[in-house]
Amino acid sequence: MNSQALREARRYEEIFGHRITQEQRPAFHLSPRVGWMNDPNGFCRYNGVYHLYYQYYPYDSKWNTMHWGHAVSKDLLHWEYLPAALAPDEIYDRDGCFSGSAVELESGQLLLMYTSVVNERDKNGRIWGVQTQSIAIGDGTDFEKYSGNPVLTEKDLPEGASRFDFRDPKIIRLKSGGYACVVGSRPADKTGQILLYRSSDCIHWEFWRVLIANKGRFGRMWECPDFFELDGRQVLLTSPQDMLPEGFEYHNGNGTLALIGSWDETTGEFIPEKDQAIDYGIDFYAPQTVLAPDGRRIMIGWMQNWDACAIREEEEPWAGQMSLPRELHIRDGRLYQQPVRELEGLRRGGIRKTDLTVCGGLCIGGIEGRTVELLIRIRPLDPDKVYHKFSVRFAEDEKYHTSVSFRPHEKVLKIDRKFSGSRRAIIHQRRCLVPESESGEINLRIILDRYSSEIFINDGRQVVSAAMYTPLSAKDISFFADGQAVMDIEMYRLESQTL
Ligand code: FRU
Repeated sequence: MNSQALREARRYEEIFGHRITQEQRPAFHLSPRVGWMNDPNGFCRYNGVYHLYYQYYPYDSKWNTMHWGHAVSKDLLHWEYLPAALAPDEIYDRDGCFSGSAVELESGQLLLMYTSVVNERDKNGRIWGVQTQSIAIGDGTDFEKYSGNPVLTEKDLPEGASRFDFRDPKIIRLKSGGYACVVGSRPADKTGQILLYRSSDCIHWEFWRVLIANKGRFGRMWECPDFFELDGRQVLLTSPQDMLPEGFEYHNGNGTLALIGSWDETTGEFIPEKDQAIDYGIDFYAPQTVLAPDGRRIMIGWMQNWDACAIREEEEPWAGQMSLPRELHIRDGRLYQQPVRELEGLRRGGIRKTDLTVCGGLCIGGIEGRTVELLIRIRPLDPDKVYHKFSVRFAEDEKYHTSVSFRPHEKVLKIDRKFSGSRRAIIHQRRCLVPESESGEINLRIILDRYSSEIFINDGRQVVSAAMYTPLSAKDISFFADGQAVMDIEMYRLESQTL
């Protein structure tokens, strides 16, 4: 039986979701059915389709008591909304159903594991959410919360770990049978750590070990971990809060981190060898992955960041969107990302130009639009006289533009959405280092979908994502070089079929 809170949320989204027109949303990125969305949750393949749940507050376009929204897709690009999956309707989760994951049980049912939150007031009147882990089992659409919830509580924490920062369980299947689960936690040093639990039935869990302690190296609390094998390596993804900048690799505030190393499944010991940011843009956080039936590891993230949410006007009927689903690989010890290959199925038209000399500004007939893909290859006209700067402007008219620019001498690529219409004094620019393009050779794959831009640099070695809410009438695209550059370009319109 669905609770009153869930029935109300479902009724509300049914009525108000329909009032948001197709044009008001991204065309092929998932946005909330109505109201607010943050982290992807329970990303899985179940009964022949991809399911994506998400942190959701239907009643307002601001974060509030968390529910789980739900959508399904066959190709990860056309999403169909299903009714909200979880509402905060039990004593142990009355202040929120926070992030978590999904796994198909041997019985064929789908199990969700999520963070259940209950607020507590301390003696100074401050509110703290006590966080535990709970489960719900169902058919993918309707779930029953387990009578023995919560299944992990403060008694399952290692010494010194906080009961207020214990969240975002991601379940993994062990090769040896049974399940493990990684959970973000705050140890006594007040930074972050990832805890590892194990279970044979996915319901009864025991503490296994601390998978890795942050020790203040990367920000403080680590949120939303994911842990998987990729191309023979073991990868931990997590989203650290309160980071300090480090060169061009990590920026202030909420960031993303990939640790690549090896894992011994019998002892549970993880040895990280390399670290990097996952996305170098402004808006990307809390990613989660799924293993596709064909073996691809696919990641999707919240294409927003807590520090930059204010870019969206409050009176809008929805806030927050997911990134493109991205195929992951390890190459030269780094995490590479490419849009899922299904995106090529959305391509229409096609303009191709080669060997164009860019010197000053350039517009190309037919190259424009807000739901497009651009494949750009740049090189210097004369290798001994490398151009100083190359840039692409999009979502452009006389008043607005967003740009990506690359300066080979500095090896720095910059995204700038200062002129996207935002009226807030938040971060609108970000830079990343592209050392391998010092010669002036660089390739950029730019995906625009009405309210976002994702730039895949050098075959996905780095990605820069940013939301933008520029009026849709600003749809010009132009190119500029300070010095002389040569460009090959391909452009496609990206069209999704309305379901
Ligand atoms: C990350 C996060 C999670 C938490 C959720 C709450 O964005 O803070 O740690 O579960 O959002 O909505």
